[in-house]
Amino acid sequence: MLLLLLLLSSGDVRAQHVSGQRKNGSCVCQVNPAKWSFPAVNYEAALQQVQSCEGSLSSLQEQVELSNRRLPQIQALIMNVTERLKPHQYLHDHGIYTDLPLHLLGQDLSQLETDIGAIHSQLNNGQTTKLSKEVAKLRKAVDRIQMSDTINMKTVKETLRYLKNGAESCKSIPKDFRGRERYCLKGLISNISEPVMTKVSPHGKTYISGSWGKQAQMDSEGQKNSYWVQPLLNSHIWGNTVRLYQTYKDFMASANHRDFTVAPSFTHVNTIEGPSAILYGEVLYYHCYCSADVCRYDLNSSTIQRVTLPGIGVGFNNKFPYCYYDCRANSDVDVEADELGLWALYATVGNHGNLVVSRLVWDSEAVTLNVTQTWETRLFKKAVSNAFMVCGVLYATRYVDEYREEVFYAFDTATGKEDNTLALPLEKVAKGVASLSYNPTNRQIYMYNDGYLLAYQAHFASGLSD
Ligand SMILES: *[C@@H]1O[C@H](CO)[C@@H](O)[C@H](O)[C@H]1NC(C)=O
Ligand SMILES: *[C@@H]1O[C@H](CO)[C@@H](O)[C@H](O)[C@H]1NC(C)=O
Ligand SMILES: *[C@@H]1O[C@H](CO)[C@@H](O)[C@H](O)[C@H]1NC(C)=O
Ligand SMILES: *[C@@H]1O[C@H](CO)[C@@H](O)[C@H](O)[C@H]1NC(C)=O
Ligand SMILES: *[C@@H]1O[C@H](CO)[C@@H](O)[C@H](O)[C@H]1NC(C)=O
Repeated sequence: MLLLLLLLSSGDVRAQHVSGQRKNGSCVCQVNPAKWSFPAVNYEAALQQVQSCEGSLSSLQEQVELSNRRLPQIQALIMNVTERLKPHQYLHDHGIYTDLPLHLLGQDLSQLETDIGAIHSQLNNGQTTKLSKEVAKLRKAVDRIQMSDTINMKTVKETLRYLKNGAESCKSIPKDFRGRERYCLKGLISNISEPVMTKVSPHGKTYISGSWGKQAQMDSEGQKNSYWVQPLLNSHIWGNTVRLYQTYKDFMASANHRDFTVAPSFTHVNTIEGPSAILYGEVLYYHCYCSADVCRYDLNSSTIQRVTLPGIGVGFNNKFPYCYYDCRANSDVDVEADELGLWALYATVGNHGNLVVSRLVWDSEAVTLNVTQTWETRLFKKAVSNAFMVCGVLYATRYVDEYREEVFYAFDTATGKEDNTLALPLEKVAKGVASLSYNPTNRQIYMYNDGYLLAYQAHFASGLSD
């Protein structure tokens, strides 16, 4: 846990960056007193901060207890709402209410109910307070449905989307609290550097689509410092190889590479489709050929596992590519990594072509690739040029001009909150952005920019570095 001590003295603000540790139920922080002189007011400010550090731990405890009480109530409310929708489902099934997709609402509600039941069997957090309020609102909306013919379906659907996201976020906390605590708590990205590296793709700049980066698993054993390039050699859409360099030096010199072949042709079920790939440990994850599936290619064993992304009408085969300025062919499904793990970014008909974020987990015991959670955003996928994940937050970019992109949107999977007010510039050397990926091991962002490979350093709001 990070603690920022703000010491105020006669108008000047000095900050001291302190690591706290959880010990015996308290947050213990070691503060270096040599860093400031000792006016009493400073001491009190520091003392207050230490107390609020303890406070935040006990409030987490309270949240856990609260949600254990709240969840059964939420569950009851959802059951109630679902019950009340049943008559309308009947009308729909008999073709009377054809223009109202109430049966879909009913399905969504049942799913929500199942999800919340599942959450209840795990540990929980305080977001359930908010969830229960929203469920109550939804119940009111359903009350109105019963009383009048004119229904604001948009409001009901939006409330449902919000609730579903809330339930998904609950699933991950505090199970993942540790990962977030260990690497994150840094706030949103505040700035992105100028390119810290520029290089033409080793396959030549005529291959304008693909992806590249550095191995992205935080505590990976194998391929720890490997750099990789995955070019889409066929029609700028399909690829079947990935090139690895064991060191940054080799990568920069384009020396000592090793090519891995993931599929025997450009039309095989395991072929790589779109600029989607990410190297995570000794595994390449990517969108697989003409499907709603994410593939997992193990470099060590050359074996492939796959998982189908959830959702009604998952977009692939150029249905929902990244577009903003020019569409990037078949960029429907984008695989990303961050401090919390692996993610798939895509769009579904069910979410009206808006971006959907699914969390991917490799279960090494069951030997299966699983989707554990899914969030629905309100951001139309074709209205963004690319996207990436940092600390469980989705960031999306748009085209500004030939030499500039801009991060303009963030969606936090921990809270379901969106921020449309970002304006973080990203310089580039060519017009088209095939892929954009964050790497949690060094906090760099990698862009495949029409055959040029660019790297940037991300800076965070707190301005603290490790
Ligand atoms: C934690 O509490 C126990 C029992 O109260 C005590 O024996 C122990 O010394 C404490 N540990 C630390 C690190 O303060
Ligand atoms: C749902 O809640 C309302 C208001 O609290 C109550 O009047 C109604 O009987 C409940 N319906 C069901 C099916 O539980
Ligand atoms: C933010 O990044 C831009 C472009 O890379 C750079 O010119 C600027 O100095 C940075 N600003 C801060 C506050 O770091
Ligand atoms: C497989 O993985 C192990 C450790 O994870 C590594 O030492 C070994 O070199 C790898 N084998 C191949 C063929 O890459
Ligand atoms: C992954 O899915 C398999 C098969 O459905 C299941 O047995 C396993 O428990 C799941 N693992 C996780 C971590 O969700």
